[in-house]
Amino acid sequence: MRKILVAVLSLGCVVAPCAAAAQVDDAARFEQGRQLYEAHCARCHGASGEGRPPAFPALSGNDRLADAAHVVGTIRQGAGNMPPFPALTADETASLAGYVRNAWTNGFGGVTIEEVDAVSAAFADPGPAASVWDGVFSEAQAMRGRGLYTGACSFCHGRRLNGAPDDPDMRSTPPLARARFLREWEGRSLATLFEYTRLTMPEDNPTSLTDAEYVDVIAYMLSVSGMPAGDGELPPDSRSLAQIEMRQRQ
Ligand code: HEC
Ligand code: HEC
Repeated sequence: MRKILVAVLSLGCVVAPCAAAAQVDDAARFEQGRQLYEAHCARCHGASGEGRPPAFPALSGNDRLADAAHVVGTIRQGAGNMPPFPALTADETASLAGYVRNAWTNGFGGVTIEEVDAVSAAFADPGPAASVWDGVFSEAQAMRGRGLYTGACSFCHGRRLNGAPDDPDMRSTPPLARARFLREWEGRSLATLFEYTRLTMPEDNPTSLTDAEYVDVIAYMLSVSGMPAGDGELPPDSRSLAQIEMRQRQ
């Protein structure tokens, strides 16, 4: 009886050799991790994990990534100025954590879904997700943001937020509203936009506004892009902003 069972169980490996199947699976996971990294992480940590110190640490050659629980916890929960990514599934988090631990110059080994679940069990449920089209800022907040934008950002990003500076001799910058901007940020969270903006802008004087002022400017950017205002305001807090996703369309 046992012999038959073993024969049946090993049949799968005869049809598709087990080692090869595992390799295919690893390659698919690595590719999934690479795509998620591009979408959610490269903006701050760089296309090759080089980071942008001191604001954004390098992930390539970073020995702290040897600790798988540290990597998973940082992605799920955030840390310091790193926004949390509560919307990623355990499966996606495992692929992503495995990717950053093994891409570029790293070779720290993979991460299983069980390891992700074990770390995540300690965290509270982040609550319902929303998109930028759900009335997530108020009219008054966008108006405050407009005044701040004119003083701190318009100089480089242009009065129309189109990246054409007021002074024609100055180099152009990325647009902060409408189609091109929304395409660039599609699928990312407002927490990423908030932290990136706060830590790198104005380019000549980062973190010079208060956190509340940065979200006011973001409210203004969204209103110029056509998103509707609602009753509440965007909070200056990454944990809440991580629940709001950028979308090109409703
Ligand atoms: C808005 C910018 C930003 C984005 C987007 C971002 N990070 Fe981070 N990340 C940071 C900052 C800032 C830190 C340093 C946090 C601290 O002070 O502890 C950090 C730290 C980390 C660390 C710990 C490094 C160490 O030395 O301990 C890991 C791992 C990490 N990030 C992975 C990721 C992954 C994976 C993603 C994509 C899901 C991501 N980050 C997206 C800004 C970002
Ligand atoms: C001195 C010029 C300058 C000022 C002032 C400035 N920026 Fe920027 N900004 C840039 C440049 C150059 C880039 C492109 C390089 C980069 O992303 O770091 C940029 C990029 C950005 C991006 C990323 C856009 C994208 O899609 O890649 C955002 C968001 C942003 N700025 C927001 C702001 C806000 C909000 C303010 C005002 C608080 C501001 N900037 C003030 C020069 C400036």
